[in-house]
Amino acid sequence: MLFSGRTPASLSPNRLTRVLAELKAAGAPIIDLTVSNPTREDIAYPREEILAALQDTRSITYEPTARGLLEAREAIAEWHAGQGVAADPGSLILAGSTSEAYGWLFKLLCDPGDAVLVPRPSYPLFECLAELDSVQVVQYPLIEELAWGLDISELDRLVHPRTRAIVLVNPNNPTGTYLKRDIWLRLQEFAAYRGLAIISDEVFFDYAWRQDPQRVSALQGPHLALTFTLSGLSKISGLPQMKLGWIHVAGPASLKAEALERLEWIADSYLPVSAPIQHAAARWLELTPRIQNSIRTRTAGNLENLQAAVGSGGNCRVRTPEGGWCAMLEVPRIHSDEEWALMLLENHSIWLQPGYFYDFQREGFLVASLLPRPEVFQAALQRITGILRSH
Ligand SMILES: Cc1ncc(COP(=O)(O)O)c(C=O)c1O
Repeated sequence: MLFSGRTPASLSPNRLTRVLAELKAAGAPIIDLTVSNPTREDIAYPREEILAALQDTRSITYEPTARGLLEAREAIAEWHAGQGVAADPGSLILAGSTSEAYGWLFKLLCDPGDAVLVPRPSYPLFECLAELDSVQVVQYPLIEELAWGLDISELDRLVHPRTRAIVLVNPNNPTGTYLKRDIWLRLQEFAAYRGLAIISDEVFFDYAWRQDPQRVSALQGPHLALTFTLSGLSKISGLPQMKLGWIHVAGPASLKAEALERLEWIADSYLPVSAPIQHAAARWLELTPRIQNSIRTRTAGNLENLQAAVGSGGNCRVRTPEGGWCAMLEVPRIHSDEEWALMLLENHSIWLQPGYFYDFQREGFLVASLLPRPEVFQAALQRITGILRSH
């Protein structure tokens, strides 16, 4: 065959996606509770100020810098410091998105056929990114009884000679679970002892629902192992269209220096981040508290309504997340997740993600985005609670 095995053997959509496309084509009034793009949901953005930041006259000059412009890296470090975690501009590398950053880290750490440990359930992003770099993913279970926390003995069981890194999602999507201090210390020791790197995806870190002194960012030491922390404007500032992500590198001094040098070499081969975006980044980060406030108002309102509505539903419950932009609905296991999603879609025009999309270890979960407009979300809730009562 002409094409490499890095792209899937079949690109045909799954059953749910096919049904959704057919219903949309037939004009069905679908209520979409899977939305993840905040720019399409009528969230209040300081639009003029966001766009004005792109008018910087310095953008007329091309100054290729593999790590990214210092001014943008300083603004990012300052943002993290404002969140209570020190980040060093000299340890940051800019990329076009967090997804691109993953690809760079796989290139940095893995030869074809090497493996990375990834959490399950979690956002189904790693598998395709890893496949694009001929890297295997080995899933490690997050433990439902530990509120989907991490169990180091499970990692220990799964590490093999070709394992190169452990991926964390902090907070995890969709379970919302944050990394906690005690596990972080043990994980650092484990990774250092096993010669593994840690990749912590912290795109939703700022969206916690409550304070927790045990919560940590991977930016916080001790960094006994080589540690990469990923984030970006797509979630932090609700600006996925601007395409700016970053990698922060920490770890033992010589390993860290070499990782940074090699990452710089990879970044230099692509130089994906445009000048206007790099010049605008500092201003966008100044606007970010306002944007986050708008997003939080939206997600908090929807979560409150979800809890109130489903709380009175009886045989279903909301698994209150610690953070993030979505909530998990636990539904009776009289149907599979796919059957639930299909039934809601075909009979009631509601599009919710089935738990299997995130690879939950068991049936009984549907995932709802908290981003939709309040009136759309309320309309969906009325339908859903009616259906759940009848089950
Ligand atoms: C956990 C997680 N990481 C990364 C991404 C992708 O982020 P980016 O837009 O920066 O590629 C997403 C997108 O939803 C996500 O949920």
